Amino acid sequence: MIKKGIILAGGLGTRMSPLTKAVNKQLLPMYDKPLIFYPLSVLMLAGIRNILIIVNKGQLNQFKKILPEKNNFGVNLYYKEQLKPRGLPDAFILGEKFIGKDNVALILGDNFFYGQSLSQSLKKNTKFKNGAKIYLHQVKNPQLYGVAILKNRKVVKIVEKPKKNLSNLAVTGLYFFDKNVVSLSKELQISKRKELEITDLLNKYIKKNKLKVDFIGRGGTWLDTGNIQDYYNATNYISAIENRQGLKI
Ligand code: TTP
Repeated sequence: MIKKGIILAGGLGTRMSPLTKAVNKQLLPMYDKPLIFYPLSVLMLAGIRNILIIVNKGQLNQFKKILPEKNNFGVNLYYKEQLKPRGLPDAFILGEKFIGKDNVALILGDNFFYGQSLSQSLKKNTKFKNGAKIYLHQVKNPQLYGVAILKNRKVVKIVEKPKKNLSNLAVTGLYFFDKNVVSLSKELQISKRKELEITDLLNKYIKKNKLKVDFIGRGGTWLDTGNIQDYYNATNYISAIENRQGLKI
């Protein structure tokens, strides 16, 4: 069972510069709310009520204005600063104390998930006891993402930004891990782009035969809002749905 989650909300946001020079990407408006509300709501839909938000050094006060630690939609929020963006698995090293001996979810602060069966799927997938679980989603431009190579619906390898067309199933920014994730992250080597790589971490779980996958299918949406075009596409999507239904995403 997963009861704890981490939102990785630091990063340089270079692809959205100069918008991100003074304000962190996760605090920018995504239609009618700050971007970070969307990944936060995904963790809440998964039934997670203890959430660590990792932010850039010096940005704690800005985040706390929008999401104070107490009295927040019924969730307990905790914060930790990341001195510089060292890669996604750094979340588990920074979050060691928060994680303790529990399983943990990680969601990227700029990822958007939506769909009819999402909450059911999240509740089902947070029930596991050990290993790791990721969500895959079919994309047109897999070269921009980490992709999963499957054989008989089992994942055999994750490849980061493949040059050749190996798979069109991108690894989305929502992950579930058992408590071993902390020690496994500490074993990772810094890559050529000077980061700890989530791909390396996932491949460690594959080697132990412990990585499972689920799919955000046709009826579900996963949008990465990291560049300005994707960012505005997500904004348009949210405004279209909210204005049609009168319901807030
Ligand atoms: P990225 O898209 O890899 O990085 P970024 O958001 O800084 O953007 P850019 O490539 O334009 O510079 O990060 C994905 C998410 O994870 C994003 O929400 C920022 C966050 N992140 C951290 O908080 N710490 C990190 O060390 C990294 C690598 C990312």
